[in-house]
Amino acid sequence: MLAGMAKSRIEHVCTDCGATHTKWAGQCSGCGQWNTLVEEVAVAAVPTVPRASTAAPIGEIDPQVCAPRATTIGELDRVLGGGFVPGAVTLLGGEPGIGKSTLLLQLLAAVSGTALYVTAEESAQQVRLRAERLDAMRPDLLLLAETALPHVLAAIDETRPDLVVVDSIQTVHDPALGSPPGSVVQVRGCAQQLVNAAKQRGVPIVLVGHVTKEGSLAGPRVLEHIVDTVLAFEGERHHALRLLRATKHRFGPTNELGLFEMAGHGLVGVPDPSELFLGDRRTGVPGSCVAPTIDGQRPLVVEVQALTMPAPPNVPARRTTQGIDHNRLALLLAVLQQRARVPTSQHDVYASTVGGVRLAEPGLDLAACLAIVSAITDRPLPPDLVAFGEIGLGGEIRQVAHTPRRLAEAARLGFRRVVGPASAPEPTDDRIRLVRAATLPEALAAAGLA
Ligand code: TYD
Ligand code: MG
Repeated sequence: MLAGMAKSRIEHVCTDCGATHTKWAGQCSGCGQWNTLVEEVAVAAVPTVPRASTAAPIGEIDPQVCAPRATTIGELDRVLGGGFVPGAVTLLGGEPGIGKSTLLLQLLAAVSGTALYVTAEESAQQVRLRAERLDAMRPDLLLLAETALPHVLAAIDETRPDLVVVDSIQTVHDPALGSPPGSVVQVRGCAQQLVNAAKQRGVPIVLVGHVTKEGSLAGPRVLEHIVDTVLAFEGERHHALRLLRATKHRFGPTNELGLFEMAGHGLVGVPDPSELFLGDRRTGVPGSCVAPTIDGQRPLVVEVQALTMPAPPNVPARRTTQGIDHNRLALLLAVLQQRARVPTSQHDVYASTVGGVRLAEPGLDLAACLAIVSAITDRPLPPDLVAFGEIGLGGEIRQVAHTPRRLAEAARLGFRRVVGPASAPEPTDDRIRLVRAATLPEALAAAGLA
């Protein structure tokens, strides 16, 4: 329902944060980014919604309306806090080829009731072939190959589905909006109309949004405040592991992590990720340390590996990372050199986490340091030892959150000793012994590297 069409006018929209400006400027005043403003034809078509309710005492509101309905895909339900809420709009963002369409087709096959898949990128035939491969064929799964938003809305009215997927929001367009498909005005205008449709009909809608590394496409960033939930689907393209997180969620927590593996017949949930990460570990090899980390609420026991080589003279030493933040590694190497007298500046350092998992968790610091020193000294760490803790610039080892959960997971996987911060609470699991270290030199000694 449109409130009449006002005159078109030119405006400048930031492709990063979506702020609109009447004049062009080099820097966006909304987010401070440079060269992100693009010219758009804005059609002032403000959707109006009929008055939905009157003010009522909060105790009289029926909470059941917002009860999530399970999707039966365990890892997805974990991230969503139970499932999709009727009328909620979810944006699933991720790089092209990461597996968004695959996940959603599996979702539509798993839910009960009528499901509508709007494919605006691939042909209906392509989707059918994929559905056959994924074993997702069922009579209540309706397929609509359509890019024009008015037809999509009409199909939702006609078929009255229990769940709708629009793949992708960047390829649907509303001719009434004037600007080209994929532009900020189109993406935002179409998403807003789909949000209104979801609320009016009480049907959950999932929108797919591509993000590119350069952020050149108008996508998830401009939609974040319009939708109820933003899910990010991530992973290294050459690894099978895929991570799903909620970065915004109006109906539940945002710190749950869902894990999938891309297999030949689609995505498979990974209920025991630590086992997967440690599957190929070789013990007794220098340059390896296992860390009990936490991602959201989920303990992940991962191996950190380091390889070092004496750097050629008069050339800056190389630092290469995978799965670990490059700047964090530089900081740890500097602290090792200055506070623990480890000659890191004379070595090329290659550091990575195993299994394609990207970790930006301070608890990983100590394990990374021990792996590096183990590599430089060519001495392996004991096979049953793990280490965790954040390293401060003074070389002190600081406490991190969720120590009991980290240690319980390490104990479950067979580790018996842990080097951790001096202030860490005693482990609740008596199979594992905590060796406390206040500083890096103390930790190196505790791990047998000093
Ligand atoms: P896709 O869902 O098309 O990605 P997106 O929608 O995010 O662009 O997934 C594409 C990749 O997934 C493709 O490179 C092939 C791989 N894949 C599998 O490995 N197994 C499968 O069963 C399917 C359907 C896809
Ligand atoms: Mg796709």
